[in-house]
Amino acid sequence: MKLFVIGNGGREHALVWKLAQSPRVSKIYCAPGNAGIAQLAECVPVQVDDLPGLQAFAKAQSIDLTIVGPELPLSLGIADEFRKAKLRIFGPTRNAARIESSKSFAKELMVREGIPTAASRTFDSMDAAFMWLESCDLPVVVKADGLAQGKGVIICGTKVEAQEAVKSMLSDQQFGEAGAKVVLEEFLEGEELTVMAFADGRTVIPMIPAQDHKRIGEGDTGPNTGGMGAYAPAPLATPELQKRILEEVLYPAIRGLSRTGSPFYGVLYAGLMIKNGKPYTLEFNARFGDPETQVVLPLLQTDLLDIIEAVVEHRLDQIHVAWQKQAAVCVVLTSEGYPGSYPKGLPITGLPEKTTDSVVVFHAGTTESDGAVLTNGGRVLGVTALADTIRSAQQRAYASLAPIKFEGCYYRADVARRALSDLSEN
Ligand code: AMP
Ligand code: GLY
Repeated sequence: MKLFVIGNGGREHALVWKLAQSPRVSKIYCAPGNAGIAQLAECVPVQVDDLPGLQAFAKAQSIDLTIVGPELPLSLGIADEFRKAKLRIFGPTRNAARIESSKSFAKELMVREGIPTAASRTFDSMDAAFMWLESCDLPVVVKADGLAQGKGVIICGTKVEAQEAVKSMLSDQQFGEAGAKVVLEEFLEGEELTVMAFADGRTVIPMIPAQDHKRIGEGDTGPNTGGMGAYAPAPLATPELQKRILEEVLYPAIRGLSRTGSPFYGVLYAGLMIKNGKPYTLEFNARFGDPETQVVLPLLQTDLLDIIEAVVEHRLDQIHVAWQKQAAVCVVLTSEGYPGSYPKGLPITGLPEKTTDSVVVFHAGTTESDGAVLTNGGRVLGVTALADTIRSAQQRAYASLAPIKFEGCYYRADVARRALSDLSEN
């Protein structure tokens, strides 16, 4: 089979890496890809939001199946367009992807289906939002309704901060169209957990629970990023909690979308806050998470293509998904200045010659020029290590990244530390 993967990050490198292991795959194309992906797939210079360009490529190359990584093309309706053109594609329709692309849509769904989440109100007028802020508890969370690359969430400790955040979205339009509506939300305390699941509109198969590291600084300090590292399985997710997440969050969301005429085919990502053993949903995404995918897919035993085809053909109930009994830790290496502005085009040295069973370096923001690998983004690489325990996977990940160098390279030294303290408490 000829596959076409859309995207250029660490998530897409992990997808291509896993799909390349399938005996049924003869060729993988990736648009636009990166230097790591180029070792496994043929990269084509089409951008992820160029829907006509992507469709023309899939037609011209007689692609058997297209797999979408990022949210942007999904929110633009790539799955609808491909299906209309009789091209097979893995990913939800534009309407179903609103579970990620509109926080107010997701909130309404959660309330309708009884999915536990923070209490919230949606506003498109500043006066009404300010009035509500007069009597709300602090801290309060201010969220832009639309896609904002993880930057549209501001946790406000004072009323003045909250007013400024609302103003930046509704009046100053700092988030463009994405901030035309704001969701004001109760602040939840607890520990965060990611559970992604395959879904075919009816059946839901959860993946191994993972934990992301959203903040730039050690000890979860500083601004939010796309994600600075991840580990799986998360010890926080006991079998009992996993069962609750499946029954109280994932199934109700999938059933609710089907009932409203927008069945969800793809990967549903639940970003959860666990408080007193109970899962509250902070957000849904309509795709694989990044960097969570870099720890979850290496633990997947089943052929990913078999699962993806079962989703596309709406027969996920016939699939058994098996996982390795190991742990995985991924540490993300970023450019100096990220998540603010950062330089590009710096040479990267010390990359391993080849991947092994226990260490894979996933490329995120990289490009190749005259045989050299150069930085090309904020998140540059994700070094994933597998081992029998989280502690040894963590040690192996840090040992493996030590030889990798580029000017201004930064990473958090405490990835998976929380897992170790959760383990010692249990
Ligand atoms: P989101 O994009 O909605 O997942 O928000 C990004 C991050 O903001 C989350 O991963 C949390 O760390 C934090 N966050 C979002 N909503 C809340 C909330 N209601 N209470 C506490 N933290 C939140
Ligand atoms: N790791 C967070 C996300 O993929 O949105």
